[in-house]
Parts: sequence; structure tokens; C-alpha cells
Amino acid sequence: MGELLYSGKAKQMWTTEDPDLLRVVYLDQATMLNGKRKDHFVGKGTAANDISTLVFEYLIRKGIPTHFVKRLSPTEELVKKCEMIRLEFVTRNIVAGHFASRFGLKEGTPLDQPVEETFYKSDELDDPFANESDAIAIQACTANEYQQCWELARRCNVLLTALFAKAGMKLVDFKLEFGKLADGTLVLADEFSPDNCRLWDRETNAHLDKDVFRKNLGDITTTYDEVYERLQKVVMEE
Ligand code: C5P
Repeated sequence: MGELLYSGKAKQMWTTEDPDLLRVVYLDQATMLNGKRKDHFVGKGTAANDISTLVFEYLIRKGIPTHFVKRLSPTEELVKKCEMIRLEFVTRNIVAGHFASRFGLKEGTPLDQPVEETFYKSDELDDPFANESDAIAIQACTANEYQQCWELARRCNVLLTALFAKAGMKLVDFKLEFGKLADGTLVLADEFSPDNCRLWDRETNAHLDKDVFRKNLGDITTTYDEVYERLQKVVMEE
């Protein structure tokens, strides 16, 4: 069973018999406003794990280093243990969410070049914005690590924008997290699911992500299952 290391908003991390590996359990839960609103959705953990597994396996095939080892069950995966960098790397391709509200811009406006924003991971501080010199000053990472993480994030953006486009979806924005393996290698960690990206239907701009829950637009599990089915078709055709 292992020992529960961490229980987050949508996932738990457990130790395994191997000190270098951890077991991630995806929960049937969605939260917003930094956990202030929390709801239970049957099947949501499986749907998020399905999508994240597919995306991580895809990125690994394309040469991105990640923490992902394998899927263990519908709600569990095995990952390499890493020291997490306490930063969130947000990339935006289309105006939405806080970028729209912060700058008074119209949602849906395409951005000429991707916007890159970094935030310090801290629930107590509400994840404040942190630029490169902030990140170095608060010792979240080194300048070299900051640059390496953004280089990996840019490669992921190119690969995933194309993948989602083939599946009839616009990758509006997304958040990535990185960690360091014992030997210092930087790897993409955490998850990639509609919990941490915005996906809009290419034709209708319908929300196919956690905004369905944030804005009470429908059933989150059904939405995530649709994203998975669309992606699976594209990946099988490759
Ligand atoms: O809220 P905001 O517009 O800044 O979010 C940008 C993107 O980053 C969205 O896809 C959102 O789901 C993701 N995000 C996240 N975790 C956070 C903050 C944002 O996954 N703590």
C-alpha cells in the first residue's frame, strides 16, 4: 500500500517498495479558488488519468523527459520520485482566464506569440506571480533551471498544440510543473489533463476543460471522456 506522502486537490502521492518510485492516485474530485470550492465527480479521476497517461506517453515518444513510468490502474500511475520545483509554468496561446481579466482583453483573441508566466506554488500566498529574478531570489530554482524548464515548456506547447488541433481542439493555455531526478535531470512532472489546461472545440469554442466545472456548464466527467476519445483516435492513427 505504501505511505501517503501528500494529498492534494485532485491527486494523492504514495510511496512504493522502490524508494525511487511513487504511486499517484487520481481522485474523483475537482476544486477551484485554491480549494475553497470542492466537488465530487464519479469517474473524473479515471478520465484525468486516461488523458494524462496518453499525453505523457505521447511527449515521451517525442523526446520530452518526464517523470512518468507507467499506468497502474484506471486511477493510478507509477512515476519517478523527483524534487519538485515550486513554480507553475503557464503558457497562453489565446486570451482567456486571468490574462483576459488582468489586462481587460477579450477572451478568444489569439496571441501573436505565446505568453509565458511563472507563478510561485504557495497556497498560503495564493500562488503569486514570479519572474525569473524573483524565482532565483526566493530560491525556487537556478537561472539555468528556469531557462531549461521554459525550453521544455516551449517544446511541449508546439507538440501539444499540434496534437490537440488534430483532435479538433484549440490548446488555449496550460500549466506545467517540473521536477529534478536524483541525478539532477529536469523532467516534466505532475499531470497534463483538462484540470490544468483550457481546451476549446475548434468549431464551436465549447469548453472541454475544468471551466465546465468552474462555470457550471455541464458534467465534467463526460467532458473529459470526450477529450480522451478524441485524443485516442488521433494517437491511434499516428
Ligand atoms: O487562471 P489562469 O487563467 O491564470 O490559468 C491559466 C491556465 O493555467 C489554465 O489552463 C489553468 O487551468 C492553469 N492553472 C493551473 N493551476 C493553477 C493556475 C492555473 O492548472 N494553479
